[in-house]
Amino acid sequence: MQMRLQKYIADCGIASRRKAEELILDGKIKVNENTILTLGTKIDPSYDKVYYEGNLITPQERKVYVMLHKPEQYVTTVKDQFNRPTVMKLLTDITERIFPIGRLDYHTTGLLLLTNDGDLAHKLTHPRYEVPKKYLATVEGIPEESQLVQLRRGIRIEDYITAPASVTFIRKYHHHSVLEIEIKEGRNRQVRKMCEAIGHPVQELERVSVGFLTLGNLKKGEYRHLTPKEIKYLKSL
Ligand code: URA
Repeated sequence: MQMRLQKYIADCGIASRRKAEELILDGKIKVNENTILTLGTKIDPSYDKVYYEGNLITPQERKVYVMLHKPEQYVTTVKDQFNRPTVMKLLTDITERIFPIGRLDYHTTGLLLLTNDGDLAHKLTHPRYEVPKKYLATVEGIPEESQLVQLRRGIRIEDYITAPASVTFIRKYHHHSVLEIEIKEGRNRQVRKMCEAIGHPVQELERVSVGFLTLGNLKKGEYRHLTPKEIKYLKSL
């Protein structure tokens, strides 16, 4: 498909469209072998090669940052070996190839971030950055305060001891209770294993926040683009 040269230059992140016009008039842009001096020249990006001061330029993929309220019974991978539905199916109008940042279990609901920004994804999932993640865990029975202290201090799970966590009661019912658990790690099935370790297995698990990002009014299955402020915040972590 043909497009205006100045738009193509802007899409490559070289300059705004107006500035790109100046670059053209200054003789700094070549298309294939030819220096172009005429504004409004059209190119076909699928076969024309564009050079700025002698260097080939290519369009940048737009970076996309999305928050999804993951429903239960979706996997947070791009493809599933067992053919279960993936969260990608829920992102109906996103054309960029984005991927989930970290993972939530098949049965866990709540806040999932997705992006095509590899640097940010790497940072947010690396244990060194210690981004706090808050969960509401509905557990069997009602744990003793001493058991919550164990969770707070760190508890042995298989071959490691969890880092200090913040744990509070939200609600107590007859046969189950709801805990708010904030962890800075993100090991596989960590919250489920922590609760199992004190003898109160998780019945339902929802992630309600990542850093200062919260689900807000997003309903299960809904998603939205992050605001510039939220993106800036994540990058600053
Ligand atoms: N901890 C878990 O056990 N499961 C999740 O999905 C997320 C954190």
